[in-house]
Amino acid sequence: MTDAEEAKLGRLRAELHAALAANSRIAPAHLVALAAYAPLHALPDSERLLGRVWPEEVEQVLTQQLREPLAERAGMASIPRLTAIEAKVSQAVRRQYEENPYPRWVSTIRPREAFALETYLLETFPGSALRPAGTGRDADVLIAGCGTGQHAIETAVTFRSRSVLAVDLSLASLAYAQRKSRELGAPPIEYAQADLMELRDLGRSFDLVEAGGVLHHLADPFAGWRVLLGLLRPGGVMRVALYSEIARRHVVTARAFIAERTYGSKASDIRALRQELIARRDQPWAASVVGSGDFATTSTCRDLLFHVQEHRLSLPQIAGFLEAEGLVFIGLEAGSATRAAYAARFPEDRAMRNLRAWHVFESENPDTFLGMYQFWVQKPA
Ligand SMILES: C[S@@+](CC[C@H](N)C(=O)[O-])C[C@H]1O[C@@H](n2cnc3c(N)ncnc32)[C@H](O)[C@@H]1O
Repeated sequence: MTDAEEAKLGRLRAELHAALAANSRIAPAHLVALAAYAPLHALPDSERLLGRVWPEEVEQVLTQQLREPLAERAGMASIPRLTAIEAKVSQAVRRQYEENPYPRWVSTIRPREAFALETYLLETFPGSALRPAGTGRDADVLIAGCGTGQHAIETAVTFRSRSVLAVDLSLASLAYAQRKSRELGAPPIEYAQADLMELRDLGRSFDLVEAGGVLHHLADPFAGWRVLLGLLRPGGVMRVALYSEIARRHVVTARAFIAERTYGSKASDIRALRQELIARRDQPWAASVVGSGDFATTSTCRDLLFHVQEHRLSLPQIAGFLEAEGLVFIGLEAGSATRAAYAARFPEDRAMRNLRAWHVFESENPDTFLGMYQFWVQKPA
């Protein structure tokens, strides 16, 4: 944003404020211009915009930037709180996601019918080591760190479930999730605020526990993983997604670049940093970061480059944990091109379950897990 734009925005904001107070005309184009720069709900008295008649296109902007955030704010009070949030890291992570819920999504998948967990796993991972043990019945599901609900809703529509509990630190994220669930008519999901590190005494157990993009934001990912394993029934399965150290090497370089400068995580700093990175696109690390989907908005860019707590892991580390905990590795989720390339490189690993071989494959193809390691494990019955 240039200084000239800032000055014009200041004038538009003052005009809007005066027009709301005087009940005089507001040009739709001026309102939309303001909305393009900052959400309307952040403007003082903006709720009064809803009492006026607007063209349909402006109504849609008002819905996204005023009605939906107002509905979320109203919904927060009814979200139950299951645990205290006292640990320093949990508080810092919570603060980040209260300010920037991730992701702010619009639409999601709608499978024609829900699968039994076991059917899904046997079809997705043929020849896997899955030992059927209760995964055929309607599952009790826990989504740990459900964020804004896309993940919880996808799981609830994909698997036949008896109950779905979805917890997160951030009330803003949970309120977004709750609103989207209602809007989409999703199957019932119990949303609750909780620090997953404190769930040991929840007094419930589950057939499926999902932790997608969450454990690597804990002070100790493995300690959190163990807490969740404690809630898993014998024979139950866990779907986990974790950052790869190899795939995020360019993010690591970008974070070092940021650390040498004075950028903080506020939107104006993120905008300035993005200009610097765009100017350096001739360097592979900057090109990679600029090309990431999360680079596009200040909120997701904060998640990508300014996270207050981020670990990255390797497949040998994960394999070591699985061995130590006696877990059965079911399989890695990978696209068909990756699976074909792996099968050509390691034809002897027909079930594609050898994590040491996958590590070699990833070392040779370092962008394989840009979308995180996503995999399934089973707790022995
Ligand atoms: C990157 S988002 C991922 C959200 C969701 N799982 C998805 O895949 O879209 C990480 C989420 O984990 C939550 N989280 C981080 N630490 C947590 C903790 N200790 N307990 C519960 N939730 C946590 C954050 O609040 C945030 O909403």
